[in-house]
Amino acid sequence: MPRPPPHHHHHLSLFILLLLLLVLSFTSNATTTQQFREAPKFYNSPTCTSIPTIITTTTELCSDEAVHVAMTLDATYLRGSVAAIFSVLQHSSCPENIVFHFVSSSSSSDVLRSTISNSFPYLKFRVYPFDESAVSGLISTSIRAALDCPLNYARNYLANLLPICVRRIVYLDSDLVLVDDIAKLAATPLGDRAVLAAPEYCNANFTSYFTPTFWSNPSLSLTFAGRDSCYFNTGVMVIDLQRWRDGDYTTKIVEWMELQKRMRIYELGSLPPFLLVFAGNIAPVDHRWNQHGLGGDNFRGLCRDLHPGPVSLLHWSGKGKPWVRLDASRPCPLDALWAPYDLLQTQFPLES
Ligand SMILES: *[C@@H]1O[C@H](CO)[C@@H](O)[C@H](O)[C@H]1NC(C)=O
Repeated sequence: MPRPPPHHHHHLSLFILLLLLLVLSFTSNATTTQQFREAPKFYNSPTCTSIPTIITTTTELCSDEAVHVAMTLDATYLRGSVAAIFSVLQHSSCPENIVFHFVSSSSSSDVLRSTISNSFPYLKFRVYPFDESAVSGLISTSIRAALDCPLNYARNYLANLLPICVRRIVYLDSDLVLVDDIAKLAATPLGDRAVLAAPEYCNANFTSYFTPTFWSNPSLSLTFAGRDSCYFNTGVMVIDLQRWRDGDYTTKIVEWMELQKRMRIYELGSLPPFLLVFAGNIAPVDHRWNQHGLGGDNFRGLCRDLHPGPVSLLHWSGKGKPWVRLDASRPCPLDALWAPYDLLQTQFPLES
């Protein structure tokens, strides 16, 4: 059989190369070069106290009048983070008094910093690089891969990462939107001793968050003796960083993570160590501030309904994320409530 002329091979490999380039341009557009629209400027209402506005000093970073918000930033959840920021600003009566503290991996902090300032030119914020290698050795695999991302554990290190002058912080996950004024959440009373405040769920089966190994070992299960322990979700927390530092809670959480590496005492990722250290000793927050579980369970991401009662914050915790379901044209009914905060610039990679 005669061999085809060599230039046929040439055409074929050129075609494959083009195909590869096309596929590559699609995937890189999806993950690394997301473009976001610019959000409008949001103004304080006349009743707001004005906080210092000099960006070059630490005065505003440290202002007690400001509402300090901590979030993580990474490429995978960036679209969610941007929507969350937008929602916080939109529902705040004193948006100029909000200072954002973003934790991101060291390698991507420059890119993410410019993405945020392009989309929110007036935002008061700092980006803190997080050395992921410091925590990656502590992570044991959980039931859902996304929970094992090192940045998921950054909330445990806020007291070390943020300036010492920041006393109170509202920590927010990236898969949520607020529909109420964050200042109300930030003003949650912590009483004389509580280190953190979060909505508690005493109807949830607390036993199920830890393994039989944990419960059958008295020296471990006695941790909860005499404590009125209830489940809380670590995606929305008001934290007193001063009390956190004084009690060295970062070390206490790390110690449980080290134990988990040696014997499996829980199944989820960053949440159970928080329960071990704080459950039963937290200040309560109204359930309206964390309508969680909208992403469905950790396995299938089924659609969920709201819990009864008023809503100040919608949280798509669980496997399904609204932006993924919207892109796939398979949204859950409540995903329509996230969509108005989506600032992603629709791209047409083939035409550019
Ligand atoms: C709570 O969870 C544990 C372990 O998963 C289970 O054995 C127990 O039956 C559950 N209790 C209730 C009241 O559902």
